[in-house]
Amino acid sequence: MICFEKEKRMIHLRNKDISYYIYINEQNRLETLYFGEKLSHLDNIGALTKKNGSPERYLDCKTNKEYALEGQYKGGLSREEISTHGYRDKRGAPIIIKNELGTIDFLYVSHEIYEGIRPLATLPSADKKLSETYDIANNQENVDTIVFRLKEKDSEVYLNLSLSIYQDKNIIIKNYVLENESDKPIILNRAMSMQLDLPKSDYVLYQFAGRWYQERYEEKVPLFTGVHEVYSNVGRSSHHMNPFVFLAEKEANFEHGEVIGFNLIYSGNFKFRANVDYFHNLHITYGMNEEDFEWTLGPGDRFETPQAVISYSSEGIDRMSQNFHRFIKENIITYWHDREYKPVLFNSWEGCFFDFNTESIISYIQDAKKIGTELFVLDDGWFGARNGDTAGLGDWYINTSKFDLKRVIDECHENGMKFGIWFEPEMINADSDLFRAHPEYVLGKGGMDLTLQRHQLALDFTNPEVVDNIFEQMRKILDNYEIDYIKWDHNRDIAEHYSEYLGEGRQGEVYHRMVLGYYGLLDRLVRRYPNIMIEGCASGGGRFDMGTLYYCPQIWTSDDNDPTSRMNIQYTTSLGYPLSTMGAHVNDFKIGTYKAKSELAFWGTYGYEMNPNKLTEQEIATLDKTAQAYKKYHAEVIENGTLYHISSPFDTRYWCMQSVSTNKEKSAFLFMTKAKILQENRFFKLKGLDEKARYKSSYDDLIYTGEYLMKIGLNLSELFVNAYTTKLIFLEKVT
Ligand code: GLA
Repeated sequence: MICFEKEKRMIHLRNKDISYYIYINEQNRLETLYFGEKLSHLDNIGALTKKNGSPERYLDCKTNKEYALEGQYKGGLSREEISTHGYRDKRGAPIIIKNELGTIDFLYVSHEIYEGIRPLATLPSADKKLSETYDIANNQENVDTIVFRLKEKDSEVYLNLSLSIYQDKNIIIKNYVLENESDKPIILNRAMSMQLDLPKSDYVLYQFAGRWYQERYEEKVPLFTGVHEVYSNVGRSSHHMNPFVFLAEKEANFEHGEVIGFNLIYSGNFKFRANVDYFHNLHITYGMNEEDFEWTLGPGDRFETPQAVISYSSEGIDRMSQNFHRFIKENIITYWHDREYKPVLFNSWEGCFFDFNTESIISYIQDAKKIGTELFVLDDGWFGARNGDTAGLGDWYINTSKFDLKRVIDECHENGMKFGIWFEPEMINADSDLFRAHPEYVLGKGGMDLTLQRHQLALDFTNPEVVDNIFEQMRKILDNYEIDYIKWDHNRDIAEHYSEYLGEGRQGEVYHRMVLGYYGLLDRLVRRYPNIMIEGCASGGGRFDMGTLYYCPQIWTSDDNDPTSRMNIQYTTSLGYPLSTMGAHVNDFKIGTYKAKSELAFWGTYGYEMNPNKLTEQEIATLDKTAQAYKKYHAEVIENGTLYHISSPFDTRYWCMQSVSTNKEKSAFLFMTKAKILQENRFFKLKGLDEKARYKSSYDDLIYTGEYLMKIGLNLSELFVNAYTTKLIFLEKVT
């Protein structure tokens, strides 16, 4: 709900847990009075905005006299919805427009309050805008929006600051839209999505940093005076730092304390910036990274910044995670079968890499069936001259000398399986027909040496002709073969960010336009093929973000399938993203047993990557047992359940988590060790069950009440287990 108290010039956004107060001050600047746990009302604004002593003063040049500003406002100390630039506030404005004076000051003109949230025209946004194509419910009635219209003091540039609050989950969406109503082009040097100023800074920042094969390792940094940035400048959301971050009060844990999560519905360069000033205000700005960004906005044009998402919890980390999980499932993912069961997947990559033919793939399909496979995916190597990673990218036609796609698909269908295929649409090898025909399609200046990564270059997706070419090639495959799934890869960072197509004066637009090209192609494909499920991927989990999830209901979490790393990666990823979005496969890496690897993969969208011809009868039985459990429990307990983290692998010698179906009838619990552990008193208090109900535990076949399991706990004291060993336990309500 959003109310405007006209006399107090105050706006109150609230739901059952959050209050967010904004004050339109005497100078028409938007001051953030309060953001946090719900308040029934807010009085004494003066006491809240009080700072140190005297009001801000200015010199009136016409009279050459000094005046004091009315009220408590002080640039650089007041908490604001959008800081000025080029005045006294040096904390970092979210928006900078190039101009002679070097000043930017947006002042309130009007506001509009409405039910629902309006879609962005150019970017994925929190509204299910594809719902006109698909028959999916959208949750417009559960969200309210206020749009403040502000005008830049000295120019005809307007800014719409949009704030939406969900009623059924503790989520706030913020973004800015710029409108150039002058008769000249303007240049944006920084266009972030939000600002949030808080009056205290004693938080710990959790960030998820890493690299290929080691995505999203948890790092905790206590905020200190100065600036901390979490960012990407490599053209994709990246392995290095994920756009999901959160702030937690120092004493917060899974169940207690204030926790504020942030994410961005965007897949390119981003920057989360936390600035603690000498007054110990915390000034957060979040949005697109301004490095190498410069955008020319013509007269009459608009520029939309991506939506930033804030998840608020006064009840610990898990509530913050659960808000994000529900928001992503209900308000971001547009794949219209998303709430349905996701099939057990077999991916050919780690079993044979590029080395396959029709017969070997058919033998894979037949053996994959024995371990419960329902969707067979042919990974890299099926197209052009792609027999290794030095050639073929860009040539999306079947390598008929290598294999027969139709026979492979028929074999899948005869075995009752769906069929999926790999594409890497945004990339090209110099050794490809596409490059030979169109060297100008590549990003980077012609004649210049270009940095290679995995022997490949990026296509210039700022150029619509390039995107059309790839769309047409993909269309020919997708129109002519029965394909149920695409794995969409992206195996390099952007290095030389120069576009021949955009030409002079527009090079600061390259990074953002590349992301728009990516979304544009996805958009065309999902509209044409709404039944094809697309799994995102970028050298493993290098593009695991909300922008990608808008189109791709699942994302390959990491190329590292070894359970030692996967335990950490899946844990951290599950703090910000739903389990059902995380591709998780069993491989034949030497560390860990098939039992442990499969029971870990159970906590994602379950699949395999190995040579299935080499599996023994016993291994087949182990893997199929987990596949059967996945089939029984995934949709209810994992896909649409509520996740609770019981212990973190970063803080303990084991990892535990539990997921509970919405009706509280079924639950799954995972216990996985990092090191060998001996018998000791070990009670795990479960969460989210029905206190009065009785549950049968698959661990000891005993029946417990929900109250017992939540107050005394599941007793795993007798366990003596080696490193990287799992116990997967199911609880089912009995009558
Ligand atoms: C990337 C992906 C892998 C696989 C290969 C194929 O590395 O992350 O899963 O698809 O590309 O080249």
